Amino acid sequence: MFDPNTLTGADISTEFCGIKLRSPYILSSGPLGYGAKGLIRAHQAGCGAVVTKTIRIGRAINPVRHIAAFGNTSLVNCEKWSDLEREQWYEQEIPQTKAAGAVVIASVGHTPEEARVIVKDAQKAGADMIELVSYTEESLLPMLETAKNLADIPVICKLSANWPDAAATGLRCLERGADGICAIDSIGPVLKIDVEHARPALAGAEGRGWMSGEALRPLSLHVNAAIAKAAPDFHNLYGSGGCMSAHDAVEYFMAGCSCVGVCSIGILRGIDSVERMCRDLSALLQKLGYPSVTAARGVALPYIPDRDVVSKLKFSFEPFANEHTGARGCSNCRRCVTVCAYGARSLDYPDMHVDPSLCRDCGACADVCPTGALFAEILPQSADDLEREAELAALDEKIKLL
Ligand SMILES: Cc1cc2nc3c(=O)[nH]c(=O)nc-3n(C[C@H](O)[C@H](O)[C@H](O)COP(=O)(O)O)c2cc1C
Repeated sequence: MFDPNTLTGADISTEFCGIKLRSPYILSSGPLGYGAKGLIRAHQAGCGAVVTKTIRIGRAINPVRHIAAFGNTSLVNCEKWSDLEREQWYEQEIPQTKAAGAVVIASVGHTPEEARVIVKDAQKAGADMIELVSYTEESLLPMLETAKNLADIPVICKLSANWPDAAATGLRCLERGADGICAIDSIGPVLKIDVEHARPALAGAEGRGWMSGEALRPLSLHVNAAIAKAAPDFHNLYGSGGCMSAHDAVEYFMAGCSCVGVCSIGILRGIDSVERMCRDLSALLQKLGYPSVTAARGVALPYIPDRDVVSKLKFSFEPFANEHTGARGCSNCRRCVTVCAYGARSLDYPDMHVDPSLCRDCGACADVCPTGALFAEILPQSADDLEREAELAALDEKIKLL
């Protein structure tokens, strides 16, 4: 059982929609929230709140198979909503999860009529918040209107990057009274082929699945940061998609989120990994100089530019470990050489060379360095950089008019 009092680093408690959470990890709606037992396990592992599998007017029957791994860190699935009847959620699963001390978010899908039928009963059963999820953005806004009229508890809207502009939809939800936003749901449709058996890995119609896990994280971060930048006073944003470690969680906080969903990590590595992620988070935040999750929230947003920025990189290279500075030195792995698309970099350890006539300042070589021995600093813009930047902007405008 996770005990926040045993953490020795930064404070990882946070607040979401006015409710205090002991950790910023929220079990996202999915198979681990199939019922009270799964939700309680996630709570005990350290999740600050747990979301039920999506409740609809009738129970789901799933195609077989409906979950497959995609590499080691991502999944494809065509799992439908909860396979329990909604009455069972009201009478047993939600009350039992509440009795175990968890903060419970009832996921309600997928139509305004279903919101009308389910929201009040989920609240009566003890849910602390409602999360609305729908297949189309057209149905999400009427669901929100219905839920806000019926609920006295906070209402969260879950966004999907399958829609043309999820961040814009999120802002529309805020205008219409959403208390919280979750971005994003799994993305698709996608297809995985099982080459041994020459058929789709999943049995959904047309082999369709939806992708989650690590592959989703950069997409989700972009949507979350766009919402956080456009609505700087709104703090009830939780990122969902590919949070596999404390490091990933910090990315979400720096992009403006107060909490972060966990789903695929719990399936792939076991939900008990959340306990380790809580400890790692407390230590990592402290190491980075943030006393709490709240202190790290949104710190990267001012550096996300509104326009393309052109400048140059200044590389530094530390071939040898140095116990005084903490430098780990070069391991001669040569990833920096391999990754250079332009053949600009060569390493004859301990001598590193870069040919400035070939280097395009892309930064990939320093990004893949596992020890930090190769480091790229972004230089302040020179007059020449500003000229090239203006040239780029002019070309963009010209292309738009074509
Ligand atoms: C097998 C599976 C089932 C899911 N079922 C639901 C669901 O019933 N309702 C829902 O809102 N999201 C559902 N999701 C989406 C997750 O809640 C989450 O938003 C998404 O997987 C991205 O997070 P992750 O990368 O941490 O998994 C499901 C995801 C998976 C992998």
